[in-house]
Amino acid sequence: MATETAQSRGEALSPERRVFITKVSLALMGLASLLVAVPIIGFIIGPLVRRFPPRWRPVGSVDSFKIGETVKVDFRDPSPLAWAGVTAETAAWLRRTSEDKFVAFAMNCTHLGCPVRWLQEADLFMCPCHGGVYYPDGRVAGGPPPRPLFRYPVRVHNGQVEIRTSAIPIG
Ligand code: FES
Repeated sequence: MATETAQSRGEALSPERRVFITKVSLALMGLASLLVAVPIIGFIIGPLVRRFPPRWRPVGSVDSFKIGETVKVDFRDPSPLAWAGVTAETAAWLRRTSEDKFVAFAMNCTHLGCPVRWLQEADLFMCPCHGGVYYPDGRVAGGPPPRPLFRYPVRVHNGQVEIRTSAIPIG
């Protein structure tokens, strides 16, 4: 035999009971929304605020670089987002300055981050976006860039040239 409630008997709920049920419903809806929203927000925001420690990454054997030449070397972004895909592949400009000395410049212009190009004939780095120009040592030669090109620390380790990658300060 089913239990009869005030509602099933057609009786109206008292105002206090109605207010109580409304408050409980709202609290449960709020809790459910929180349970759904927190993981989603964490998934989106987490990678943007996470700190990635710098890492040494090999970019080629010492013998593969000629003294005085500036070449593009590829490596993986030190702080790739989970959904970055191929955009996590990045690069730097590497110059061998002597038998055991190298210098590495970030690809990104310090104005708005466009990739700069090394022009061997002009002996300059050029940014195609707004005409930023840099001297071979990374100093600003002209245009809107506010700072010299970012430099990566470089070392030779077990016959390999390694770049210490880290998040690049832009802008
Ligand atoms: S992004 Fe390079 S000059 Fe503006």
